[in-house]
Amino acid sequence: MKSEKNIWNELKKPFLILAPMEGVTDIAFRQVIAKAGRPDLFFTEFTNVSSYVSEKGRENALERLKITPSDSPIIAQIWGKNPDHFSEISSALESLGFSGIDINMGCPDRHVNRAGGGAAMIKTPELAIECINRAKETTNLPVSVKTRLGYTYLDEWKEWLTLLLNQNLSALTIHLRTRKEMSKVPAHFELIPEILKLRNEIAPETKLIINGDIKDKSEAEKIYEKYPGIDGFMIGRGVFQNPFCFTDHLGTKTELFELLNFHLDKFDEESKETYHSFEPLKHYFKIYLNNFPGASEIRNKLMQTHSTKEVREILKNFSI
Ligand SMILES: Cc1cc2nc3c(=O)[nH]c(=O)nc-3n(C[C@H](O)[C@H](O)[C@H](O)COP(=O)(O)O)c2cc1C
Repeated sequence: MKSEKNIWNELKKPFLILAPMEGVTDIAFRQVIAKAGRPDLFFTEFTNVSSYVSEKGRENALERLKITPSDSPIIAQIWGKNPDHFSEISSALESLGFSGIDINMGCPDRHVNRAGGGAAMIKTPELAIECINRAKETTNLPVSVKTRLGYTYLDEWKEWLTLLLNQNLSALTIHLRTRKEMSKVPAHFELIPEILKLRNEIAPETKLIINGDIKDKSEAEKIYEKYPGIDGFMIGRGVFQNPFCFTDHLGTKTELFELLNFHLDKFDEESKETYHSFEPLKHYFKIYLNNFPGASEIRNKLMQTHSTKEVREILKNFSI
């Protein structure tokens, strides 16, 4: 099916995207980032296509695909290896409010790869093509892919990206590392000129998004100055250092406290509808309580808490 409205064509270059991060960029945290300074586009955490089609997994999949108005525009990221399941989930995503569908072909997680998904797709290119085509068949939404440079060796990049660029994708996000490199070596920025050349030769219409080690807006702008052919940048772990990273602003201590309180509010709102374990919320505390005298002391106290109510009590007694 042909897209009538394509979000990727509406974004102004160089656009910024919050990277999908499993266990991080959930509905509550995306609202935090939207409040701090929104990127041009959000992605969901990845959702397994086979989970969505199974009776047992459907509820959980739909929970992961829940969005709010402040998310919009937002892309649903999906992963898996069963083409029928790609087809089925893709037929539903437009009515759930998404502006596009992104297929994860870069995740290095062992469980995901053993299940044939994420970066394992690099080793099964025919299946990768089939999954892309089956997703496209049942939706009007633009379909994109997020991937790495290769599975084991860096020199896989040309063959793999050539194959993807031949699929008439709306966008291609490249995390500039191989699966084997995980996040242990610096991103391969040196390959950008060659990747741009390849994209321009094969698929000038496909938006090219660069990802890996880009901390904030100003870093993205510096890379763009050097390589204006890039369409957009995706920032992931940069939000851990500064949740205001999509703006030119470095959050003040007061703003970070406000943001933490806002995160607690959003967590509570979500928990009213569906049970959410409190423990994982603690992983976020260091984002807000960092780099000022007494930060670790208050963080240690918060790590002993069992509810948002207890967190609020401690924060109230702490003078900013
Ligand atoms: C905790 C965590 C979870 C992630 N989950 C996903 C995911 O669900 N889908 C995905 O495509 N990439 C995922 N990634 C990879 C990021 O989207 C991104 O490609 C990677 O962190 C490199 O970008 P950065 O250097 O800006 O962080 C995850 C990364 C982290 C750190």
